[in-house]
Parts: sequence; C-alpha cells; structure tokens
Amino acid sequence: MPDKSEGNVVLKFPKGFLWGSAISAYQTEGGNNNQWSVWESKGGHIKDGSVCGMACDFYHLYERDLDIAKELGHNTFRFSVEWARIEPKKGEWNKKEVEHYRDVLKAIKKRGITPLVTLHHFTNPLWMEGEGGWVNPKSVDYFKRYTSYLAQELGDLVNLWTAINEPTAYASASYMLGKFPPQVSDMDQYQSVLRNMLLATANAYHEIHDILGRNITRSAPKVGTVKDMQYFQPYDENNPKDRNEASFLHKFYNASFLDALKTGKITPPMGTGEQIDTVKDAFDFLGFNYYSRMLIRAGAREVLDADKPLTRKDSLGITDMGYEIYPEGIYHLIKWLKSYSKPIYITENGVAVQDDERRAMSIVLHLEQVHRAIKEGADVKAYLYWSLIDNFEWDSGFDKKFGLVEVDYRTQERKPRPSAYVYKAIIEKNGITDVMLNKYRKLAAR
Ligand code: BGC
Repeated sequence: MPDKSEGNVVLKFPKGFLWGSAISAYQTEGGNNNQWSVWESKGGHIKDGSVCGMACDFYHLYERDLDIAKELGHNTFRFSVEWARIEPKKGEWNKKEVEHYRDVLKAIKKRGITPLVTLHHFTNPLWMEGEGGWVNPKSVDYFKRYTSYLAQELGDLVNLWTAINEPTAYASASYMLGKFPPQVSDMDQYQSVLRNMLLATANAYHEIHDILGRNITRSAPKVGTVKDMQYFQPYDENNPKDRNEASFLHKFYNASFLDALKTGKITPPMGTGEQIDTVKDAFDFLGFNYYSRMLIRAGAREVLDADKPLTRKDSLGITDMGYEIYPEGIYHLIKWLKSYSKPIYITENGVAVQDDERRAMSIVLHLEQVHRAIKEGADVKAYLYWSLIDNFEWDSGFDKKFGLVEVDYRTQERKPRPSAYVYKAIIEKNGITDVMLNKYRKLAAR
C-alpha cells in the first residue's frame, strides 16, 4: 500500500533519468600531492585554517561511500581521476594508481551504478604546474597524452566521460581573481588558460572516440563538457546599463566557451575568431554545473566574486558560500542551452548550508525548475547533486557542508542527513510529489 502521507507524484521525470551525486578526487580522496597541496602547505591560504590532508579518505573508504550512494538510491556517480597520481613524473605512468581507479570503477558498477568520469578537476601534477601549468601551450599535448592513456586503461569500464571540470571557473579563480593557485590576476594568462583548456577538451573528445570507437564489442562512449554557469540577471531590468552588462557577462562567461566548442570559431576571450575544425562539435553532451544567480548592477565590483552578492526579494536566501539560492536560474539556463542541440546533464547542483531542511528545499525546488524545462522540450538526462559527502571546499576548507552525507573528519564516520532521504524518495518515485512541493514552497516563502 502506498503511504498516503507521501502524496502523489505531480512532476514525473523521463524514464531512465540519471540520478546521483558528484565528488572530485582532491576534495575527497586525501593524500594527494599536486599544485594545491603544495600551495596550501605554505599556510594562510584556506579560510578556515585547514589543509586538505586526508580529506574524507575516499581513497580507502570508497566501498563504504559507494554503499551509501547505493542505499540512497543513486544510479549515477560522478568522480574525478587525479592526474598527479596517474602521471606523477612527466611521461611516467603509475600502474598501481591505474589499478586503484579500475577498482573504484568496478566497485561502482558492481552496485549497478553508472560511473561518469572527469579527467581534470582543478588540480595539476607538480611537473606540469612547474612548466607553467595551463598557461603553457604544451599543456594541451600533455593532457592529450594523459587522456589517451586513460582511455586505453579504463575504457572498458567507462561510458560517460568529461574532460575538464569548469574551465571558466578554474581560469577565473586561478588567473583572473587570484584566489586559487597560482593566484595570478592577468587577463593574458587567463585567456591562454581558457584557450588551452578548450583545445584540450576537444582533443579529449577525439582521443576517447578514436581509441574506444575502434572496439566494436562495446557501446560508443559519450564525451561531454562540464561547464560552470551563472545565471546573470540585470539587477534593475529597466536599467539598460544593467541589462547590457548582464548580457555581456552571459556571453563572456557562459556562452563563449560553448560557442567555440559548437562552431569551432575561437572568439575572445580564447582567440581572435580563427576557425579550428577539430574543436567544432567536439562534445556529445553538455554537462553543466549550476549554483547561483548573479544579479548585475552596472559598474559594481561584485561581479564573478561571490563574497558579497547582490540579492532581491525573489531570492531564497544565501548559502554559507555566499551564493544566492535561486532555482529559477537553472530553468532559464536549460532553456538557453537547448540552442546547442545536445543532451543536457546537470553535473553539479547543491548548497552548503547548516540547516539541512534548506538543502532538501533547494533540491526539490531546483528539480521543479528542471522539470519545467523538460516539460517544455529540453532533453535533460541527468541530475547529480553536489556532493555525496561533505568534503574539502577548496580555499574555504572543511566548514562548508555540501554533503547529503555528513562526515566526521576525526573518525571518518559518515551519517546521511535527512535531505539525503528526501532525495532518495524523489529518485525512487522518479518524480516529485505534491506533498514535497507544498512543504518546500512554504519553507521557501518564509
Ligand atoms: C566545483 C566543485 C566545488 C563546488 C562548490 C564547483 O564549482 O566543481 O569542486 O566544490 O563548485 O563550490
């Protein structure tokens, strides 16, 4: 007998929808040695005074975390491979670490979960960083070599691939805003990084297809992007200056990278309009991460830096990261992304909050907006919550709680939060009930 108190499903998602969560290597594994760990060890960089260290020890505890993901009903799991483990010295592969990731992949699949593998999530091997990191054009070849190695070594276990997590966020935080290592603020370097990451993304697409496409016994792999998106909205819709600036930022931040990938025309900030045919259409699906709206007041300094966001009455609050909760933004972005004519995967969406009920609210109300876009014809295939477990939130440290599952860093114990079960109920029903909607709409209105 269905439990009446759970209500009726009023927003049904498409059959076969991928539900799950995402993590990254550096933020969870522990024991990594790369440009971040070296930068952190110098002290004074992480807001809560921590260093990543053993993080959540996912490297050793992955079976337990995957059991939890399974128990929470997830059918998809996004994680990243740590380049510095695989190629600790230039051109030298570490077979033991390859075996480790093969074990992780087997453990995911054994639980009936689909893995989505990201090849780069903000961290670089020390030798690569030492040669100038992503500013150096050689980074494109280095990444290509790494990608083709992993396609050969892991390809039998992976169907869904993404090359580089959030190229624009990485380039801005590391080379424009000077927040992440190497803490540079230089537009020329920013542009080189973005260009090199674009070329690397396209190469990864071709490498993976060339290598795995040859194997006729397996189904064709899908290789996508993971693009960070902000919903830029004019603070005052009636002010043409606010409107122009919001529209400029949308093109600069959201659209230019994807336009280049779609057309092969490399416009600013990545190029001067030259055509590179290998870049054209080099993605099977469009992965995107959505966290927030950014209200734009012409000339204001808050732009792209979330420390002091502007808010309006229609905001559902500010998270501990300083991001505004604005579910409708995901709807507008999906509607816009439709113009790229590719399947859409929401590869990250989440909130860092102390009050877990607000996490459940955020999940339900974002999914309501995703459903609205699907109903209007958008081809959305997946929703992955960030993150399965609390983890190391880059320059903010450990005090930002994004997890469906709480982590006690002293004991490495895990405890699913109530929001994890709200999400589980959604996954089990493949939809949202009237009871959920009413409850969280009310909470949002408070
Ligand atoms: C990144 C994650 C990060 C999350 C929350 C995304 O931009 O991919 O690594 O933890 O945002 O800030």
